[in-house]
Amino acid sequence: MNDMNKKLYQLAPDLTICRILNGMWQVAGGHGYVDQELAIADMLRYHDAGFTTWDLADIYGPAEDFIGEFRRRLLKVKGKEELSKIQALTKWVPQPSRITRSIVNRDIETSLRRMGVSSLDLLQFHWWDYNNPYYMDALKYLYDLRDQGHIKHLGLTNFDTEHMEIIADSGLQIISNQVQYSIIDRRPEVKMIPFCMEHKISLLAYGSICGGLISERYVGAKEPATALLNTLSLRKYKKMIDAWGGWNLFQSLLLTLQTIAKKYNVSIANVATNYILAKSAVAGVIIGARLGIVDHIRDNIRVFNFNLDKSDCDSIDAICTKANNLFEIIGDCGEEYR
Ligand SMILES: NC(=O)c1ccc[n+]([C@@H]2O[C@H](COP(=O)([O-])OP(=O)(O)OC[C@H]3O[C@@H](n4cnc5c(N)ncnc54)[C@H](OP(=O)(O)O)[C@@H]3O)[C@@H](O)[C@H]2O)c1
Repeated sequence: MNDMNKKLYQLAPDLTICRILNGMWQVAGGHGYVDQELAIADMLRYHDAGFTTWDLADIYGPAEDFIGEFRRRLLKVKGKEELSKIQALTKWVPQPSRITRSIVNRDIETSLRRMGVSSLDLLQFHWWDYNNPYYMDALKYLYDLRDQGHIKHLGLTNFDTEHMEIIADSGLQIISNQVQYSIIDRRPEVKMIPFCMEHKISLLAYGSICGGLISERYVGAKEPATALLNTLSLRKYKKMIDAWGGWNLFQSLLLTLQTIAKKYNVSIANVATNYILAKSAVAGVIIGARLGIVDHIRDNIRVFNFNLDKSDCDSIDAICTKANNLFEIIGDCGEEYR
């Protein structure tokens, strides 16, 4: 039985999302050849399965155009009511130069046109370099666009707690921050989650299944050489596992997750996703979708069918006490990008 209450999250009074979001970084290259026709057909299948929320960015190759085409196709096939069920959360990732109002207006207009919408559901803002102070100007211009109705809500991605605090102190209201958060990478727990709880800001987590490394496929597997990892995502999170504690400790974690997965008759990825979804401040987990190549729709829908109990979480946490502290090694959320 599928529990719809567990499946949905109200990010804002007028914005309810599916707690598993379909991640579109995977269409940007480095994850296999993407055929537009097959990709759009898959987007319709995700939608039909109830996965109605998409995470994308202006810099994710054709992702915004895919949303535009998907919307046109859905309208044609299923009509207006079905179209209204989509949530498309994009990002604005500008180069950290001097940001002017006209740059912001131009870039947001481009996203609106590509996605075929009159207002963005959520615009998540990324900034590469805190030494460049223009991020506050950028945010103010974005707020003006929000007031004019071109953007419904503003969020951030990969901001650390210190800079979230600066933004909150300036009176600018943001509803979310998107950060890497998994059983392996628990940096959000140090400062970010307490801050978000206090300021009623939601987290959208990515990397929660480490590009697919946290799955049955790697149980008992020999440590893969980088050259054998066939997506950018797998390579990115393998490095994270190396910093966390290495392949042997990761194998112990996989075995523990497998035991729990068997108990609920679900998959290891389901357990890892469920574990993060149950954490404070977490609104949703973004799972990357290699559209038109492979999908895990039938498996991922099972995340909503069970709850981990305390003994499950304790056994996962016991493994993690043997790992390195990534907050000490890398720093707060988003530091890996700076
Ligand atoms: N804000 C940021 O800086 C940032 C950074 C990274 C990602 N993101 C967002 O987060 C999304 C997720 O990307 P990610 O890199 O973190 O990847 P991820 O979600 O950790 O991994 C995605 C991969 O996991 C595998 N997978 C999915 N469901 C599975 C299941 N049930 N069982 C086994 N394997 C499964 C698939 O691999 P196969 O396709 O090989 O089967 C899929 O391609 C991105 O698309 C993007 O939207 C944001």
